[in-house]
Amino acid sequence: MNREVPVGPIRDKRGYYGIGIEGSKYPCNVGTLWRTAMNFGADFLFTVGARYHRDATDTPDATGHMPLLSWPDIGHFKDNISQRAVVIGIEIRENSENLVGFRHPECAVYLLGSENKGLGEEALSICERVIEVPTYHCMNVAVAGAVVMYDRYYKRVSGFGNSRYELIEEQSKLREELSQANCALAAAEERLLRIEDRVKSYKVWDEFVDLFEGEVDV
Ligand SMILES: C[S@@+](CC[C@H](N)C(=O)[O-])C[C@H]1O[C@@H](n2cnc3c(N)ncnc32)[C@H](O)[C@@H]1O
Repeated sequence: MNREVPVGPIRDKRGYYGIGIEGSKYPCNVGTLWRTAMNFGADFLFTVGARYHRDATDTPDATGHMPLLSWPDIGHFKDNISQRAVVIGIEIRENSENLVGFRHPECAVYLLGSENKGLGEEALSICERVIEVPTYHCMNVAVAGAVVMYDRYYKRVSGFGNSRYELIEEQSKLREELSQANCALAAAEERLLRIEDRVKSYKVWDEFVDLFEGEVDV
């Protein structure tokens, strides 16, 4: 079923992202990830050194909407991925960043580990950042990918880490500051006029004194 997508990053798009699994064993996980990725506006899905035989897991016809790229190993993946994109490992590690406070880069490639082995050391070595979902236990790989994609989607819709929303916030702050500055300027102008009037009246008095000096007892 196709339906209208509410205003959000799926329509109001900046940057791009792809998501994939290293050494995946089960095509059903790639299929599930593919379907979710398509729904959350990913630009491509990929596998690196997939261990299963490619077959039909593409229930919503994702192939018609989004490409599935396949690289035999991490070396090929690294050589072919855009330099502009930040490679982000999704893995539970001691030094992983918590997804909760993570700001997603505009151009990103998310790399998940295999069902039984997780992300390999070579894969981790090319990840510029590694994030983890704060869960009690390790999740299914496609589910972990879905959580990260929803997090990216939600943070962009809600404005978290989105430069456009930050700019709008800055714009209204500056408008407020400007209107306060204008009020202060008007008040200073009014005070200046009053002071100038008083200075003028002193001048008149001085002239009067000069005129009648000696004749009037001031
Ligand atoms: C089933 S887990 C791999 C488990 C593997 N036996 C291990 O201990 O590393 C498959 C993949 O899902 C992802 N994953 C699962 N739970 C996660 C979490 N809480 N945070 C980040 N990634 C997670 C990782 O990419 C992981 O490599």
